[in-house]
Amino acid sequence: MTAGTASVSPASAGRLPVVVVGAGAMGGEWLRMLATSEIAVPVGIVDLDLELARTTAASIGLDDVVIGASVADVARLSGAEAVINVTVPQAHGVVNEEAMRAGLPVLCEKPLAPTVAEALRQVALADITGELLMVSQSRRYFPHLAVFREVVGRLGALAAVSADFFHEDHEPGFRERMAHPLLVDMSVHHFDQLRYVTGDEPVAVRCTSWNPPWSWFDGDAAATADFELASGARFAYAGSRCTPGLQTSFNADWRVYGENGAASWDGEDVVRLEAAGSVSEERGSVPEAQDTPEGIAGSLAEFVAALRSGATPQNEVRANVLSLAMVEGAIRSTELGGDRVVLAGLLEESLAQAIVAERSADIADVLRSWTSAAAGITTPAWGSTPALIASGGAR
Ligand SMILES: NC(=O)c1ccc[n+]([C@@H]2O[C@H](COP(=O)([O-])OP(=O)(O)OC[C@H]3O[C@@H](n4cnc5c(N)ncnc54)[C@H](O)[C@@H]3O)[C@@H](O)[C@H]2O)c1
Repeated sequence: MTAGTASVSPASAGRLPVVVVGAGAMGGEWLRMLATSEIAVPVGIVDLDLELARTTAASIGLDDVVIGASVADVARLSGAEAVINVTVPQAHGVVNEEAMRAGLPVLCEKPLAPTVAEALRQVALADITGELLMVSQSRRYFPHLAVFREVVGRLGALAAVSADFFHEDHEPGFRERMAHPLLVDMSVHHFDQLRYVTGDEPVAVRCTSWNPPWSWFDGDAAATADFELASGARFAYAGSRCTPGLQTSFNADWRVYGENGAASWDGEDVVRLEAAGSVSEERGSVPEAQDTPEGIAGSLAEFVAALRSGATPQNEVRANVLSLAMVEGAIRSTELGGDRVVLAGLLEESLAQAIVAERSADIADVLRSWTSAAAGITTPAWGSTPALIASGGAR
């Protein structure tokens, strides 16, 4: 069904009706998951390529969804109450703005934006509209990552964290044309996981990136980065997307050393702890895994729960900006030949850039009203206002 021809009735039984924007590879993954979800239902699909949207819908058996090129129109005709943005990173900002200005909360794929300046603009938009904007950092939602986090919490003060990511990725499309396919498209997951696991925040980074001679990527597919964290601990990261042997998990291979011992996670289902003379190993399934949605289903569950309860989700837009700043700081460092980049400075420069570039008066006013970028990303988050979805129904 194409936008403009008719409307469909929203799904019943408390499933949140959503529009998926972007019907490419990952949009298809989202739609397949949503088609059988108990908490949300796809009622509309938006893409610049309408034929692709129709083909994707048909391949999943979504015969009744509204299809079109305008987020606001498809949402209105389909009765959608939220948007899931699965477009390419360059389009995230424009799609998020159209949705939030139309009164719709958004769950946006990572990375939130190509730059921290554009991310700050989206924080301002969330301030103005009062809508929830959450970033889907889907690699936070794995039961063994939660176990690893709990184990790391037993190590006391931390000295060092390392994560190694070595993979062979063949995904033709925008990734193979990016200047920094590792740091922008993949490391953002690992940098965000670092913040989740340790609860620590990044302060500064030194990074070097390069492209191995055999790489099929145009941009730098490999990097090493050394982050200073607020606690004084260090995060040593090494990664490559064109490694044809001994591959790690997509989640990377982790080790953490603290005052009470050490812990490791293989990125899959093995978590080890050596602390205070005792050794333990958690292998295979964990009890928490039974009812815990993983990956994008985990993101969706937190988004829907936040809309229903008013709770602020982990990756509400303001909280996500520092994960993106780790990426941009690493890129700036490698472009400076490996110099140390202080993330607080990067944040404030990004705010100045955002103000100069801004063409919308209301957004410019909000950005100028912040005493600093650091203050802007701690403005009262969504959830501190009473504008909530009642119970999977309309506001
Ligand atoms: N969480 C994960 O593990 C994971 C995995 C893969 C991709 N992703 C993310 O998902 C997003 C999409 O990746 P992909 O591989 O599906 O890309 P893709 O290129 O296969 O698909 C993107 C689609 O967005 C459409 N599009 C672009 N601009 C648009 C606009 N302004 N309005 C409507 N549609 C527009 C394109 O026509 C295309 O069909 C990216 O942000 C990527 O980083 C996340």
